[in-house]
This record gives sequence, structure tokens and C-alpha cells, in this order.
Amino acid sequence: MMTQLKPPILSSSHLDTSIKFKTPSYAFYRLRFHPTRLTLWSFLFLFFLLLFFLCSPPSAGGKRRSLQTTRLPSNWEVKARNSARPQSKTDFTVLVTGAAGFVGTHVAIALKNRGDGVVGLDNFNNYYETGLKKARKTLLDRRGVYIIEADINDAALLTKLFEIVHFTHVMHLAAQAGVRYAMHNPASYIHSNVNGFVTLLEASKNANPQPSIVWASSSSVYGLNSKVPFSEKDTTDQPASLYAATKKAGEEIAHTYNHIYGLSITGLRFFTVYGPWGRPDMAYYFFTKDILRRKEIKIFEGADHATVARDFTYIDDVVKGCLAALDTAKKSTGSGGKKRGTAQLRIYNLGNTSPVPVVKLVSILEKLLKVKAKKRVLQMPRNGDVLFTHANISLARKELGYKPSTDLETGLKKFVKWYLSYYGGKKKSAW
Ligand SMILES: NC(=O)c1ccc[n+]([C@@H]2O[C@H](COP(=O)([O-])OP(=O)(O)OC[C@H]3O[C@@H](n4cnc5c(N)ncnc54)[C@H](O)[C@@H]3O)[C@@H](O)[C@H]2O)c1
Ligand SMILES: *[C@@H]1O[C@H](CO)[C@@H](O)[C@H](O)[C@H]1NC(C)=O
Repeated sequence: MMTQLKPPILSSSHLDTSIKFKTPSYAFYRLRFHPTRLTLWSFLFLFFLLLFFLCSPPSAGGKRRSLQTTRLPSNWEVKARNSARPQSKTDFTVLVTGAAGFVGTHVAIALKNRGDGVVGLDNFNNYYETGLKKARKTLLDRRGVYIIEADINDAALLTKLFEIVHFTHVMHLAAQAGVRYAMHNPASYIHSNVNGFVTLLEASKNANPQPSIVWASSSSVYGLNSKVPFSEKDTTDQPASLYAATKKAGEEIAHTYNHIYGLSITGLRFFTVYGPWGRPDMAYYFFTKDILRRKEIKIFEGADHATVARDFTYIDDVVKGCLAALDTAKKSTGSGGKKRGTAQLRIYNLGNTSPVPVVKLVSILEKLLKVKAKKRVLQMPRNGDVLFTHANISLARKELGYKPSTDLETGLKKFVKWYLSYYGGKKKSAW
């Protein structure tokens, strides 16, 4: 039985060299200094002026552009072009944002495996262990998918990228995820889910040809709704967290860009996606970690012992849904930033249709890990989580042929196998 968690053994030496920082030119300091008063004062003046510019904090988004772009390795364009080349007749060239993330990595690999051209983009932020993001990058490297290390708010970079690669599709998965973290860092949700999404849509509508967009919304938009199962036609105006509010905002922003510029946009409302290479901030993941460490886990329940349940959806099912959304996406109708006709605008639930109580999730994990969990049942704090989620997936089934086929026990078995191999330090991670 494994109790000790060791860091993963993965060769990442090439990662360290892939990002070269340009050395700024310090020619200014080499100016000849004449010891007269006037020169002294003008030198001091210039010095403080320079200090002011160097020290003034960059304002969010736009102003950081040039700084961010200069951090890229000098051969990024060549690498992006090579990575973008399709190997199949589909002729799909897809930009996957959030490619070092959980869903992004899986989708990028699935696209590459079937022969599509794929370029990834991710800012490798430290919301959770960056080692995991780097390990996913290594996986993608091996399969010939290049990830550009940049922020989706980098408008200059996006413009350049759309110039050098004619993307047919954008699979937009970069976001600030997580519900509870919004109380600690609300700005990160606005930065990535609102500003970043708009920056990406701006670059997409200006691109020639305009790509079709498929992006991740969330089941959290159903918020405090009590009518189950959740259907796409239900009103979604009671978000319970800032995260949910930014995803809802994204859906409205998508409507605008579709309406004004003729962008073809499909939103996918994911329901609690889990699986190998998953997200450490999610319950199934940290329960596994804590159960193995014999640490107490907190299980939430609603008022009057109401059950908390989630419609857990296995990653492979979600990936199939993402690919089906890309495959059925119609072309955007605009060009050069102008709309030429009505374009497609869709929204789908991608869930599993079978909510499982969190207590059941824990008992499956106990069985798989062969360790009894130290449980503490607590009333759920009102910090963004909802009591239950349950997807109606008949629309996705009808229009995307979406048919989830992995139940929670089967999916968790694969997750646990991966988890033990990744943290157990075996050289070969299960994939
Ligand atoms: N996993 C789920 O259960 C779930 C449920 C509903 C919705 N979603 C949505 O699906 C998408 C993918 O989620 P995930 O679980 O893979 O999360 P993730 O955090 O693993 O992946 C998101 C990736 O985006 C990157 N990113 C964040 N902000 C960025 C920015 N400004 N610029 C560039 N890159 C940035 C992060 O570094 C990360 O690698 C997200 O939009 C998320 O909101 C996920
Ligand atoms: C599920 O959604 C479809 C529309 O996509 C609707 O016709 C159906 O009645 C819904 N089913 C339930 C059980 O709510």
C-alpha cells in the first residue's frame, strides 16, 4: 500500500530551456558621465524617470502585451506552424487554449491523434501545482503538439498567431476555474473568463478566415435552479458564485460576437469532469490525496442532512462531446471583422445524467484505495457550491451524437490507477 507521495519523475529538462528571456539592453547605463552639476542633475532625472517606468505596475490586460510577447522563445513561430499542420483529410487546424489544463490536454491529444493540426496556448498560472501542467506539456510535446506559453489577454500575440496560422477552429478551454477560490481572488475570474474571452473573440473576429469557436461554459450557470434535470432552455439568472457569473457573462458575450460579427460559437456546459491528469482542486482528487495520507476529509451536506450530489462526467466522454461540437460546427460567416450573414450559435449540456451523492464517491474511493477514510460531515458553507447538479443531455445526444458511457466507478478506477502511478514516481505514467 502506498502512503508516501513522491514528486513525479518526468524529464522536463527541455522545458527549462524552451522559454528564453530577452536580456534588456542596458546601453543607457553606459553613457559617459561628466562630473558637472548640470549633467549630474540630468542624469539623476533620467535615472528616476527610468526607475518610474520600470517600477510602475502594468495595468490589467492590454498594457502587458509587448512584455508578454517578448518572453516567447525566438523559434515560437516555426514551432507553432509545424504543430498546426494537419495530417489528415479533415484539414482541421485547431487552437486549443488552456492546453496545459486538464480538459485541454485530453482534447489536444485526441485531436492530434486523429490527424488534426493543433496549437496549444496556456499561461501556466499557479492556481494549482504547475508541475502537473508541465508534465501535461511534456505529454503534448511527445505527440508533436506545441504549447505557446502566453496569456489569452495578449492581444498582440493573438493577432500575430492568427496571421501565421489560419485556424479553422478555436477550442477555448483556458479559464479561471474553481468555485471557492473566487472569494480569495475575484480579479483572476474577470481577467481570464471575461477580459481574456473578449480578447480572444476580438482576435478571432478580426482573423481572416474567422475560425469557428467552441468554448467551455459550465453547469454552474444553473446556480440555484431547483428544477431538475437542468435543460439548456431553463433560465440561468441565479448564479451562486462569481465563477458561475463569469461563465454566464461569457454566454452573453458569445451571443454578442455571434450577432455582430458572424462568429460561429458553441458553448459547452461541462458537469464536474474527472479523470486521469485531473484537477487537484476538485473533491475526487484531494479526497484521494487525503485518504491516502490518513487525513480527515470534510463531507458537506445541505440543511436537514440533504444529500450533496454531482453529475460526475468522465473525461473521455467530455472529449468526445468536444470533438463532436467541433465536427458539427458551421463556419463563421464574417470576414475582416465584418458580418456577412447569420452564424451558428449553440449551447449544450455535457453531463452524465446520473448524479451521485458525494458520500458514494467517498465509498468508491475507499474501496479502490483500500483505505478507510476519516470522515467529518459538515453543513455546506454558502460560498458558491450548489447542492446538486443533474444534466438533461437529450439535446447533445440528438445534435452531437453525445452518449456518455463511463460510470463513476469505472472512471474513478482509471483515475486512481493514474494517480498512484503519477505520484508513486513510476517512470511510466498510465495514460
Ligand atoms: N473540470 C470541470 O469539472 C469543469 C466543469 C465546468 C467547466 N469547466 C471549464 O472547462 C475548462 C477547462 O477546465 P479544466 O478543468 O481543464 O481546468 P484547468 O484549470 O485544468 O485548465 C485551464 C487552463 O487554462 C490556463 N489558463 C487560465 N487562465 C489563462 C489565461 N488568462 N491565459 C492563458 N491560459 C490560461 C490554466 O493555466 C490552465 O492550464 C475551463 O473553462 C473550465 O471553466 C471545467
Ligand atoms: C430534456 O430536454 C429536452 C429538450 O432538449 C426536453 O424536450 C425534455 O423534455 C427534457 N427532459 C426532461 C426530463 O426535462
